[in-house]
Amino acid sequence: MNRQVKDSLSRPLRDLRISVIDRCNFRCQYCMPAEIFDDTFQFLPKSELLSYEEIVRVSKIFADLGVKKLRLTGGEPLLRKDLAILIESLVNIEGVEDIGLTTNGVYLKKHAEKLKAAGLQRVNISLDSLDDDLFKKMNGRDIGIEPVLCGIRAAKDAGLGVKVNMVVKKGTNESQVLPMARFCKEENMPLRFIEFMDVGHTNGWQLKNVMTKKELLEVLLAEFDLEPVKEEYYGEVAKRFQYKGTTAEVGFITSVSESFCSSCTRARLSANGSLYTCLFNGKGHDLKSMLRSDMTDGELTHFIISMWNERDDRYSDERSAGTVKEQEKIEMSFIGG
Ligand code: GTP
Ligand code: 5AD
Ligand code: SF4
Ligand code: SF4
Repeated sequence: MNRQVKDSLSRPLRDLRISVIDRCNFRCQYCMPAEIFDDTFQFLPKSELLSYEEIVRVSKIFADLGVKKLRLTGGEPLLRKDLAILIESLVNIEGVEDIGLTTNGVYLKKHAEKLKAAGLQRVNISLDSLDDDLFKKMNGRDIGIEPVLCGIRAAKDAGLGVKVNMVVKKGTNESQVLPMARFCKEENMPLRFIEFMDVGHTNGWQLKNVMTKKELLEVLLAEFDLEPVKEEYYGEVAKRFQYKGTTAEVGFITSVSESFCSSCTRARLSANGSLYTCLFNGKGHDLKSMLRSDMTDGELTHFIISMWNERDDRYSDERSAGTVKEQEKIEMSFIGG
C-alpha cells in the first residue's frame, strides 16, 4: 500500500532525510564551531545511534506512507562504518525512487566505488572555497581543498551524479562565488549557492552575513548569461538556472530571501532516532524508544501519520514575515540540514 499523508497545510510527506551520525571531521564555523564542538563535546554513544536495521525499518514505513526520496546526512555520513551496507538495503525498498548522500567529500576517494556498487546514484558535496587558506579557515580543521577535489573526481569516476553545495557567508567567502561558478561550469557539475541559515544556537548567525540569491545573481550576471529552469518536481529545494547555450546549471537555496515552506515535503530523522518536522523545530519525536519497545509497524505507522497530520511548521516563511516565535532549535550537525 502506498498512501498519501498530508500535513495541516496540505503538504504531502515525500522525503525522509536521515542523519546517520552526529560526528564530523570538519568544524565549519557555520555548522559546528570548533570552540563549541571541542574535545570535551559529548557526541552520541554508539548505543544511541539507530542501527541499520532500525533505519531500514523506519524507511520502509515512510515509503509505505508515500516517501519517494531518501537522503543520508550526518555530521559526515561517511564516518559511519559500512554505510554501503545500509544503502544496499535502502535501494530495495518498494516506492523509494531516489537516494542521495550529502557529504564533505573527504572520504569519497575511499568509498565512492563501494557506494555506487551498493546502488547509490548521486552525491551532494560541500565545498565553500577554491582558495586553500580560506577553505582551511572555514572548515576549522586546516584541511585543504585537495582531498575534496579528489573526492569529487572519485565520485565522478565511479559514475555517481555530483552536485556541489556552497554556503556563502558575506564577509567570509563571497570572493569565491565566481571562481566556484567557473570551476563547476567547466566540470559540468550543478553548483548550488546556499544562503547562510540560522540553524541551531551556536553558529552566530546574523542577517548581515547572508548573501541573498539576488546579490549572488548580480555577481554571476556580470560574467554569465543565465536563464531560469522550470522546477523539476513539486517541492524542489533549489531554484535552478542554466548557463545559456550549455547544459550546465547553477542553483540557489534561498531559505532566507525566498522561503519555500509552502511546498516542504521533508521529514527528518536524527542519528539517535528522533523525528523532526522542520529544520528549525527542535521538538523531536522519540521514535527510537518506540522502535525499541514492542510497538508493531502498524502502531508506528499510525504515530507517524498523526505526527505529519498535525505538522504546521513554516519557519522560513515566519522569519520573512518577522513572526518567528522563540523556540528551541536543533544543531545542523545533529539534524543533517
Ligand atoms: P537534492 O535532492 O539534490 O536537491 O538535495 P537537497 O538540496 O534537498 O539536499 P542537501 O543535503 O544537499 O541540502 C542543501 C541545502 O538545502 C542544505 O543547506 C540544507 O540544509 C538545505 N535544505 C534542504 N531541505 C531544506 C528545507 O526543507 N528547509 C530549509 N530551510 N533548508 C533545506
Ligand atoms: N546554513 C546553510 N547551510 C548550511 N550547511 C551547514 N550549515 C549551514 C548553515 N548554517 C550546509 C552544508 C551542507 C548542507 C547539508 O548544509 O554546507 O552542504
Ligand atoms: Fe561537517 Fe558538513 Fe557541518 Fe561542515 S557543514 S561541519 S562538513 S556536517
Ligand atoms: Fe520546511 Fe521548515 Fe525548511 Fe520551511 S523552514 S522549508 S518548513 S524545513
